[in-house]
Amino acid sequence: MRHMLDTAQNRPALPPEIARRRTFAIISHPDAGKTTLTEKFLLFGGAIQMAGQVRAKGEARRTRSDFMQMEKDRGISVSASAMSFDYKTFRFNLVDTPGHSDFSEDTYRTLTAVDAAVMVIDGAKGVESQTRKLFEVCRLRDLPILTFCNKMDRESRDTFDIIDEIQENLAIDVTPASWPIGTGSDFIGCYDLLRDRLELIDRKDRNKVADSIEINGMDDPLLERHVPAQLLEKLREEVEMARELLPTLDPQAVLEGHMTPIWFGSAINSFGVKELMDGIGTYGPEPQIQSAEPRQIAPEETKVSGFVFKVQANMDPKHRDRVAFVRLASGHFTRGMKLTHVRTKKPMTVSAPVLFLASDRELADEGWAGDIIGIPNHGQLRIGDTLTEGEVLKVTGIPSFAPELLQGVRAGDPLKAKHLEKALMQFAEEGAAKVFKPMIGSGFIVGVVGALQFEVLGSRIELEYGLPVRFEPSQFTSARWIKGDKQAIEKFANINKQHIAYDNDGDPVYLTRLQWDIDRVERDHPEITLTATKEMM
Ligand code: G4P
Repeated sequence: MRHMLDTAQNRPALPPEIARRRTFAIISHPDAGKTTLTEKFLLFGGAIQMAGQVRAKGEARRTRSDFMQMEKDRGISVSASAMSFDYKTFRFNLVDTPGHSDFSEDTYRTLTAVDAAVMVIDGAKGVESQTRKLFEVCRLRDLPILTFCNKMDRESRDTFDIIDEIQENLAIDVTPASWPIGTGSDFIGCYDLLRDRLELIDRKDRNKVADSIEINGMDDPLLERHVPAQLLEKLREEVEMARELLPTLDPQAVLEGHMTPIWFGSAINSFGVKELMDGIGTYGPEPQIQSAEPRQIAPEETKVSGFVFKVQANMDPKHRDRVAFVRLASGHFTRGMKLTHVRTKKPMTVSAPVLFLASDRELADEGWAGDIIGIPNHGQLRIGDTLTEGEVLKVTGIPSFAPELLQGVRAGDPLKAKHLEKALMQFAEEGAAKVFKPMIGSGFIVGVVGALQFEVLGSRIELEYGLPVRFEPSQFTSARWIKGDKQAIEKFANINKQHIAYDNDGDPVYLTRLQWDIDRVERDHPEITLTATKEMM
């Protein structure tokens, strides 16, 4: 876990190419403005010319049918899974978190590939359910979090209220990096508390930002020229109060995940976005040490290593190719490199990696620790796999969660059962669902975290394999992996055959519909343990 590792401060300086990388994800509740903010990042990162180019994606997510459309058009969704762009001296790697609350496991794994998160909240709504859930996931890893309070051009809540709510709800210190001036139609911009500058909103051109105005403290008469008297009085009062009552920015506390700086802005008006980007550069973490066994991996190590945190299959239904998304944990990767696939101990020449430069989607010639590269493969690479230059290292901390919903699945055409098995295995490896083969009887049980996944899975099997399927209620509702001595597991399995199944890695699971059963097994069988998570191989 991250908090057990050294913090950035007492580590050697990283090579400049690595030190300039910032790899992060955006977490937010639907509609808070993640897509809009992403778009503005890309705009200021020089990756797109005009806002509106990634909009399709934000909308696509909202309904299932649109989601499927997006899945068909995988070009978009894949390139949007990771986006790299330069901003000033920095290289930003923005990793997309799946938007729907149903995909929490996928989201969790995505967050294992980043060093920080940007939390976007809606200034009128504050902390919403999905924000809180995602925040909790970040907290598990002590990920640094930078906050953007969006939609300040609309009627929003009192600034102190918003800050209090984050502090209380999420138990994290909040320090204002900027302070909003006015609200709703009176919102004119922000005072940059970190750099003593006035930033004014340009409502005429949504893709442009007005020049900042250097200010010499709150008493500078220049303020009067730009801020109407009433608003200025309020600003002075509030800033004085904020400085008295709220903690000042402590970069180390930010890096340790105990404090979040908050910027106020309006993504749609491009307002506050550059300040946030500057903040990510200045206060966001450099590529971090990766936990692994038998030793952790430091980004500055010259040998290349990386791990798979996401697999996307069937990008082209005609070829059963997949792209494995690899977070580089150390070193300087170059195209054509021969790496060792640690799980199978096989060498693997990475001749056609994809780097997701949003401006230029070409073959990656090189990548550094912190970057995300895509490796097309035929299924060898699975989530959790580690790649090295030969050393046997296994990245840890990429869990698989027990599904919360189980259903049986059958091929519409019984003669196609073998095809179904293949399709299911493929999706299981992609991490899209858990697939269990019961010890007794035929057929499969599919487990997911959110109900929508059944629908998506059904549609994908039909679309990508031409195989209509039927889901049916299962007699089970819970699955737990069985851990313990091999013989003990076998013995236990043989006396509980009707409850036993194997996942796609061949690991045994205990299926039941009663928590009571789980408690009983734990009580009566101290030689084994039942777990709701398993580390991916
Ligand atoms: P999401 O990805 O987090 O779900 O949010 P998204 O960016 O799609 O934004 C949700 C809605 O909020 C969009 O409106 C978007 O235009 C709007 N929005 C984003 N940033 C701001 C902002 O700073 N101020 C205001 N007032 N609105 C903002 P929509 O009506 O759903 O879509 P559209 O018709 O604008 O495309």
